[in-house]
Amino acid sequence: MLPSALEKAVYGVYATTAIHLADKHGVFGFLVDQAAPTAEIADKLGLDGETLDRLLVLLDSFGVIDRNEDGAYLVTPEMAPYLDPRSPRSVGGFLSHVMGSTIGRLPHLDGYLTDGKSAVDAALPAPFEVMYKTPKLTEEFLAAMWELTYDVSRELVPMAGLDQVGHLVDVGGASGPFCVAALEATPGLRATVYELPEVEPYVADTVEKFGLQGRLDFAAGDFHRDEFPATDCVAFGYILSGWTDETGLELLQKAYRACSDGGRVLIMDRLFDDDRRGPLPTAVMNLSMHVEAKGRHRTSAEFIGLLEAAGFVDCEVHRSTQDKQLVIGHKR
Ligand SMILES: C[S@@+](CC[C@H](N)C(=O)[O-])C[C@H]1O[C@@H](n2cnc3c(N)ncnc32)[C@H](O)[C@@H]1O
Repeated sequence: MLPSALEKAVYGVYATTAIHLADKHGVFGFLVDQAAPTAEIADKLGLDGETLDRLLVLLDSFGVIDRNEDGAYLVTPEMAPYLDPRSPRSVGGFLSHVMGSTIGRLPHLDGYLTDGKSAVDAALPAPFEVMYKTPKLTEEFLAAMWELTYDVSRELVPMAGLDQVGHLVDVGGASGPFCVAALEATPGLRATVYELPEVEPYVADTVEKFGLQGRLDFAAGDFHRDEFPATDCVAFGYILSGWTDETGLELLQKAYRACSDGGRVLIMDRLFDDDRRGPLPTAVMNLSMHVEAKGRHRTSAEFIGLLEAAGFVDCEVHRSTQDKQLVIGHKR
């Protein structure tokens, strides 16, 4: 028998697949509402009973779902916020992205080890050319970003000092999860999502859905080429972790130029512990950034070093209860 940590790591690929499929076919949504045996779930959801049974046995063994003494499977209240597709903390969108996109890029690591990342990437399309290749992929990616960002943003917004800000530019703000959380909590604030042109219709949908006409708008731009709109506050959510220190510094210097005096920059990202031995999701996504982008995850001290190099002062670190943390830099 393998030691427990190794066992979970080795067999994790099967659990990831099973969680993704159970989410995709509505199994978790069904089990959040009632406990049921395999045959009933298969019947109600129109799924093959034999395959479903093997997936459920595996998910029970991993402790993802539970089974009662009558042999009915259930989602415990502890797991429901993460498995219920209606919950803002559901892992479903993230896993769709992992299984639909990231998994196809992981085999590149082999070539990275032997030939180096730049040699392998030279023959590949740029990451966002792939992610925005079809409307389905675009929608899946933006849904995953919404899930990763909206809920935690409601924790980060009160720490960001937005009551001192009139206008916010969210660079690479996706379909607007951070902006919406900021606008909901801060009367009088206006926000702009600065994004690739492909994202504009999704921001328009967000404006419509949340009734944010006149408060949330869109600015098309390429952050590698263009300057940012003038503002009091520039936000980067899961952006700097996609890029090298050199590009990160260029982006922060653009933010400095865009910011009014007394303005601020918000870096919202995963943080490595100071010794870079965890947390585990940061270590995992640090590898993911290597195949999906050109970046890496950083410690708070590394972010502060970049902020200070760009001219920001009085940097602050604020932590949420989730994976995304906040580092603020101020412009004098
Ligand atoms: C990892 S997502 C982060 C989304 C969002 N900020 C969040 O925290 O959930 C990176 C975003 O950057 C945008 N992006 C990528 N390259 C860009 C570029 N060159 N110019 C502007 N936006 C870009 C993508 O469209 C995507 O929405």
